[in-house]
Order: sequence, then structure tokens, then C-alpha cells
Amino acid sequence: ARRGDLAGRHVVVSAGGTREPLDPVRFLGNRSSGKQGIAIAEAARERGAKVTLIAANLEVAEPDGCDIRRVSTALELQAAVTEAASGADVVVMAAAVADYRPASVSEGKIKKDQSDDGLTLELVRNPDILSGLGHAPHAGTLLVGFAAETEPDDDRLIALGRGKREAKGADLLVVNRVGWNEGFASDENRVVVIGRDGDVVTRAHGTKQSVAHDILDVVVTEVTTATAA
Ligand code: PMT
Repeated sequence: ARRGDLAGRHVVVSAGGTREPLDPVRFLGNRSSGKQGIAIAEAARERGAKVTLIAANLEVAEPDGCDIRRVSTALELQAAVTEAASGADVVVMAAAVADYRPASVSEGKIKKDQSDDGLTLELVRNPDILSGLGHAPHAGTLLVGFAAETEPDDDRLIALGRGKREAKGADLLVVNRVGWNEGFASDENRVVVIGRDGDVVTRAHGTKQSVAHDILDVVVTEVTTATAA
């Protein structure tokens, strides 16, 4: 039932991790490789969708057949996602976005100061991109968020995902546990998809490609139901 079930749809996927510059040579970043977001983009394309991939500092090869917009910072990601999202049928926020950025970016390389033994960085909040989309009118666009949590307990992990779905106004929320060896950068993933009522719609684990298709199965059901209604 998968082949062609996203034909005629426009799917926007963000992937990778943002980098927030400190100076011309340094940044604050995270360990997202882009694998999970790319797998979703590729799976959507295989299923017939037109795909826009907002790519933040990918550590793996870009997929074929997608319209790719390269960005680096959270603010750049916000601009690209917001532009691509208008008129899209589905937006999937798989990118790992920095919640804070340095309050100022130094023009030159920050030098060691011989007189002190530490350095304090001042950070300011980045906008929450998913929340911005979720709290604006978005009829006709299914919003799929992720939650990356280190919580070891399954029930509490799911509860955190429920809370994030509500807080950010996403239609579906994909929860994955992350850690030193989980979620980020690995080839496999284990996810729970939370639906509009806060219920667990699907659990999936396996390669990021197979998890991508399982997530899109839920997306297709939602998009098809919305169109029929
Ligand atoms: O790229 P890989 O190496 O394959 O790893 C995949 C992954 C673990 C990065 C991915 O599966 C994942 O969980 N992505 C979301 C990471 C994240 O930023 O989670 P979060 O819980 O901090 O944010 C929740 C949601 O809000 C996410 O959809 C995120 O994109 C979005 N967000 C967060 C902060 C922000 N300022 N703006 C946002 O839109």
C-alpha cells in the first residue's frame, strides 16, 4: 500500500544539526548526522511525494531527487522551513535545533586571556521553529515534530513526548531516546509516535529507513483522512 501513496503531496523535511557560530572558526553544535531526516525524505520521495529537504550540516551524502536547501544556524533553518512550509501537505521537523545561540559573534578568533582560567559564554534563546508553525493557523499542513529525550524510563519518555506535542502544537510527535550511543548518528532508531489525542499511534524500531516508512504510514493515514473529511 506504500507505493505512490504520497503522490501529488509536497513533503518538507528538516534534517541534521544546527551550528551556532562563536567566531569565524568555532561553533556550538550537536551530534545529529542527518540520517533520520534524510531517510524520511527518501522514503517520502519513493512513495511519490515532491520533497523539499532543509539540510543543516549533514554528515552523510545528500539524497537524490529532493529539492535541497542548505542552512547552518537555527535562524537560517527557521527562514527556510517557514518559506517551504507554506502550501506544504506535510512538514517533518527531524533536525536537531539549538535552543540557544551565542549572544554575540566575535569578528575575530576569540583569544585566550592569560589572566583568567575560564571563559563564560552568554547565550540567548533561539526561536522554536516547530512551535511557531504549530501555533499559527496551519490547516492542510500536517506538522510532525520529534522529541529527543535521554529519559531511561519508557513511560516517562512517552509522557515527555506527549507534553512536547501539546506544547509545540504538532499534529504528530515522534519520540526517540537519545544518548551517547542512541538516536544521534546511529544507523538504527527506536521510536514511539504520539497522535493528536496523546495516544500512542505506532511503535517502530529498526534501520532509520524502516522507521522512516513506519512514520510515513501514520502520516499517510492522517493526510488521507483529512482530505476525505
Ligand atoms: O540525525 P541523526 O543522527 O539521524 O539523529 C536523529 C535525531 C535523533 C536527531 C532525530 O531523530 C531527532 O530526534 N530530531 C529532533 C532533535 C531535537 O531537536 O529534539 P528536541 O526534543 O530538542 O526538539 C523537539 C522538536 O522541536 C523537534 O522536532 C525539533 O526539530 C523542534 N525544535 C527544537 C528547538 C527549536 N529551537 N526549534 C524547533 O523547531
